[in-house]
Amino acid sequence: MNASGPRCTTFEELIRIKQSASSAIVTKSSTLHPRSGNPSPRYYEDVLGSINSMGLPNEGYRSYIEYAHLLDKRTKPIIGSISSMDGDESFEIIHKCIESKAFSALEINVSCPNIPGKPQLAYDFDGLEQFLIMLDQISSDIPIGLKLSPYFDMVHFDIVSAILARHRIDFITCVNSIGNGLFIDTATDSVIIKPKNGFGGIGGKYLKPTGLANVRAFYSRFHKLRTSIDIIGVGGIYTGKDAYEYILAGANAVQLGTSFMQQGGDIFNTINTELMDICYTKGYTMVSEAIGALKTI
Ligand code: DHB
Repeated sequence: MNASGPRCTTFEELIRIKQSASSAIVTKSSTLHPRSGNPSPRYYEDVLGSINSMGLPNEGYRSYIEYAHLLDKRTKPIIGSISSMDGDESFEIIHKCIESKAFSALEINVSCPNIPGKPQLAYDFDGLEQFLIMLDQISSDIPIGLKLSPYFDMVHFDIVSAILARHRIDFITCVNSIGNGLFIDTATDSVIIKPKNGFGGIGGKYLKPTGLANVRAFYSRFHKLRTSIDIIGVGGIYTGKDAYEYILAGANAVQLGTSFMQQGGDIFNTINTELMDICYTKGYTMVSEAIGALKTI
């Protein structure tokens, strides 16, 4: 499926995802009110990936409820992405989204790196636990997951998986962009994007080893803790082989961000075909047989 972010903000973009071979439709992270986002230029890509500081441009959650009703979750699952930028605001949105019955699942984004003055909740472990305590109070008949920031220290994987195991989380999506990277243009000796003096989230090929490691680290901890939390892998998936690597690491499903931004909806078909070829060659009858099957040496 698509990752929340590129090409999933307008109704027309969501229709195109529905018409593609994506297994689900994920919306742009929504806020209480529409936002135009940060000043441009706010996205740039090179051969290895992308930098963005979009600043959460979105049409407001009410529009995504309306769009999801029109897209009809019975014909393709629809995952509503909700920004956690402001606690009270996000609980109001979560509540209304569940009540609407428009979505198949909700992905709560606790990892946006691009709002000046708003730190990523995924890096504030006490804040994250407080947020999950509040979330536990909301009754939901659909799966609720968290979109996490990438972590880089083994002890952080231990802390976050222990927190998640204490609360009602059905899935995690690993990983959001690596926050606050910097691209430089030596023709002008200048930063390349305007917001935050050039700092932005890094996606694409730069992200794959970090994404794989995050999926693997959470998969092995969830296994030990006997939780039933599913994992959606995201970060640098351009080919069926990349998707297969995420599945071996422990992903139940994968999302496409920068590659979908660059190539559009045809990429879902390409990746599905390549992934099926790999699984056929390896002798699997179902892709799910490969989940977590990574060997160590
Ligand atoms: C934006 C970027 C993110 O990485 C994210 O998770 C949510 C929003 C943005 O800048 O729009």
